[in-house]
Amino acid sequence: MEVYICKDEEQMGRVAAEHVVKHLLGKPNPVLGVATGSSPLTLYANLARMQDEGIIDFSKMPAFALDEYVGISIDHPESYYQVIHRTVTEPLRMDPNLVHVPNGRADDLELAAKQYEDAIREAGGIDVQILGVGTNGHVGFNEPYTSFYSRTHALPLTSQTRKDNARFFDSIDEVPTAAITQGLGTILDSGVAVFVANGEHKADAIAQLVEGPVAVRCPASFLQLHSEVIVVIDEAAASKLKDREHFFTL
Ligand code: GLP
Repeated sequence: MEVYICKDEEQMGRVAAEHVVKHLLGKPNPVLGVATGSSPLTLYANLARMQDEGIIDFSKMPAFALDEYVGISIDHPESYYQVIHRTVTEPLRMDPNLVHVPNGRADDLELAAKQYEDAIREAGGIDVQILGVGTNGHVGFNEPYTSFYSRTHALPLTSQTRKDNARFFDSIDEVPTAAITQGLGTILDSGVAVFVANGEHKADAIAQLVEGPVAVRCPASFLQLHSEVIVVIDEAAASKLKDREHFFTL
């Protein structure tokens, strides 16, 4: 695990984007895994800049989102289908036909989950997976106590996660109660995982992800078992780390 502690969110986005691009450029047919949330926004802005500078081309690159709410309309501005379109597909000028989001509207969610796994496999697997972390340690929508071996699946959301995400909706009652997400096993299969997190409210989750024991109550801690994980955070998110001498302070 490589941990980079940045001065601020802007530097976090730049450093994370450089890692993402470096690993994508090393692949003949790269596949990108993308995440929603506010944490990766400066990362995406830097990916767009690097594309403008001619360093990388996203126009033919397949992408897979981590998750989607169950039961939300595809037109809802907070459906992850729309969020990914707005924050990733458009700014990175990706081909919308190549950007995949799990289908949270399917009558048969188990089948939709299986089809999503098949699509990832047929694309050759995810080379670089961008990740954020929930305040309760969730990754994608893998809530505490999700199995380490889980593949894409539907599950109920915890009250903590619904509370955290209420800021995107008019009221907490409008936040969906369930989601479909790549499993922890799916995420662990990615070639490189690049985590971004900023703000003091992420400090506990980051401490558990980086230094804490691997435990089902904190899904992010399973990423300690990933073969190549890069954690890029700001000072506030790093504030509960103890082993600072092992990490890069920028
Ligand atoms: C959501 C998403 C996660 C994301 C998390 C953190 O619940 N399902 O993939 O990492 O929120 O979001 P933010 O970056 O806005 O704090």
